[in-house]
Amino acid sequence: MTGSDPRPQPVIPLLPGLDASAIDTSVPHPARMYDYFLGGHDNYEVDRDAAEHVIAVVPEVRAMVRENRAFLGRSVRFLAEQGIRQFLDIGTGIPGPGNTGDVAHAVTPDAQVVYVDNDPIVIAHANALLAGHDPKHSSVIHADLRDPESVLRHPRTNAVLDFDQPVAILLVAVLHFIEDDDDPAAIVDRLKQVMTPGSFLVVSHGTSDIDPQRAAEAVHTYNKGGARIVARTGAQIRGWFDGLELVDPGLVQLPLWRPDGEVPGDISDIWWYGGVARKD
Ligand SMILES: C[S@@+](CC[C@H](N)C(=O)[O-])C[C@H]1O[C@@H](n2cnc3c(N)ncnc32)[C@H](O)[C@@H]1O
Repeated sequence: MTGSDPRPQPVIPLLPGLDASAIDTSVPHPARMYDYFLGGHDNYEVDRDAAEHVIAVVPEVRAMVRENRAFLGRSVRFLAEQGIRQFLDIGTGIPGPGNTGDVAHAVTPDAQVVYVDNDPIVIAHANALLAGHDPKHSSVIHADLRDPESVLRHPRTNAVLDFDQPVAILLVAVLHFIEDDDDPAAIVDRLKQVMTPGSFLVVSHGTSDIDPQRAAEAVHTYNKGGARIVARTGAQIRGWFDGLELVDPGLVQLPLWRPDGEVPGDISDIWWYGGVARKD
């Protein structure tokens, strides 16, 4: 991107294997905005501007994404400690410290991980991170959760994961990008079908329950950037776990899910639920 290209320059060098033409820097991308909220550098001016608009309306967003990342870490560690050795991480995001593989491998060095995202920049980063890894051990696929078959039938998914054995399917901070018209319940149902007994489903999702008015404002501001999110009620999110057994403490605000330490007294700024459920 040089010369007359009016698009903003990336703050990161383009990685080997990255198809620059596939990366649209004219609109904010969820993965890059999330990276910015987390304090990362893998984002563009358009992402930072959109993220700052959200922060202006909801300064709490940074605390929420940090809590989400911590929930991801605690849930993956919990599952690895339960003996889960296979992870399908859909909507994985730009890999950063504490990604699914890091956490799982700290407990189970031979854990198998498939990372899925629909954003080419995530795929490029994840591929760079996994360069040299055994492709039978971990893989990255470019696929869209709205078409679960594209995830489940992908040859690289099936080269790494054996769905006859327990698997953890992670939908962490991704279902709020699936609009009602795309039928998130049907998508989750399809994923649950491939889960053999002993498998787990992990979901985190922004909610409108805690501060409905400001949540609506936050969603409106986020969506003005071009990407679209939906906040949902706890009842809607809990419904996706039907047929599974939610492990303690159920679907709760993120800091309350098996905290490592003491939970701060006031968590009213975390409008985000998380839960983990087992298929028996
Ligand atoms: C907020 S990030 C969450 C990253 C990570 N799961 C975490 O919680 O730390 C959401 C990710 O979902 C991806 N995403 C959004 N819609 C998606 C879809 N329909 N299919 C696959 N990935 C999607 C985005 O590109 C982004 O990387």
